[in-house]
Amino acid sequence: YEIYLNGMTGAVPRLPTDLTRLEEVAEARLGPGPVGYVAGSAGSGRTARANRDALDRWQIVPRMLRDVQHRDLSVELLGARLPAPLALAPVGVLSILHPDAESGAARAAAAQGVPFTLSSASSTPMEQVAEAMGEAQRWFQLYWPKDREVTESLLARAKAAGYTALIVTLDTWLLAWRPRDLDQAYLPFLHGVGTANYFTDPAFQAGLAKPVHEDPNAAVLHFVNMFADPTKTWDDLDFLREHWDGPIVLKGILHPDDARRAADAGMDGIVVSNHGGRQVNGAIGAADALPGVVQAVGDRLTVLFDSGIRTGDDIFKALALGARAVLLGRPYAYGLGLDGQPGVEHVIRSVLAEFDLTLALSGHTSPTQLTTDALTRTNA
Ligand code: FNR
Repeated sequence: YEIYLNGMTGAVPRLPTDLTRLEEVAEARLGPGPVGYVAGSAGSGRTARANRDALDRWQIVPRMLRDVQHRDLSVELLGARLPAPLALAPVGVLSILHPDAESGAARAAAAQGVPFTLSSASSTPMEQVAEAMGEAQRWFQLYWPKDREVTESLLARAKAAGYTALIVTLDTWLLAWRPRDLDQAYLPFLHGVGTANYFTDPAFQAGLAKPVHEDPNAAVLHFVNMFADPTKTWDDLDFLREHWDGPIVLKGILHPDDARRAADAGMDGIVVSNHGGRQVNGAIGAADALPGVVQAVGDRLTVLFDSGIRTGDDIFKALALGARAVLLGRPYAYGLGLDGQPGVEHVIRSVLAEFDLTLALSGHTSPTQLTTDALTRTNA
């Protein structure tokens, strides 16, 4: 209605309301470095396409005459009531895209009551972002460092700054072969401030021969070498439990057996995700992995979903397949790049409005009513 009313004065939205078009607009308006960083996928992009194909293979079968006038999008998730089954995914180094960076994205999320997940590769110190979040839910994403003291320090800082859930990313012990970043020699990535969470960390600084400002290149190299630890196994999860008393969510689960292991290890949740197709080229489309994982553990822990969500009907499908909420990645990064904080607000409000309409027009009043009965699968 807001868009409609503004339209009566001749004002049209500054960004497309079809969020699938944001990438095209970003390709045209942002430089090759920033847009390559966001759009880039692993290898030939096969898995990024598989994410879309997997969602597109499902179709919604709307139901009629069900009184859908009063709707409530809210859900109970990880010990909190959220206004909608949506959170912003962790996206590192947002300063590459816009000076509003993480604080702007966090403020946009907070304005809608949507949780913001701060990447541990944030270009803004986590304490500063926490302030921008006010009372809204904030989650902290961990790339689990090699260095035990640094890990402890990051977790202690996150706890002190009021982050509630810990999202531990398991699919990025190494950065994948990403041609669009490689072709740019990772220049945008290494533009210095990208690792502020680390660079401002006392335990990280203690591992440097010289202070960051005296030898930034050495600091970047140190970060690249220690930001994740490929030797980690399921046995190491106890360490996280010892150092984090809130919910722990493992991000990057695709196999039902891994989902069972997460439940056996007492984890609170998982994110079914292939990192937006940015890690294993040729990996299964995330929505193709979702039903098997939900069947294995849906009654034991909270299953979240990301990778490929672009529209309100995608959210509908992921929830109908058993996810409790979804995380949104690239669309909000493009919104930020194109228009800063208001761009992120535009993306969140558009996708939620579309989800609300999809829910209503297909005969539902709450996300909790969605089951596979609302879908049919095509063979294409
Ligand atoms: C990411 N993602 C990510 N994940 C994570 O755990 N920590 C991080 O720092 C990042 N950084 C990051 C940067 C960029 C530019 C993108 C696009 C993605 C992955 C992200 O959290 C999420 O899994 C995907 O973005 C979801 O897929 P869609 O929505 O982009 O298709």
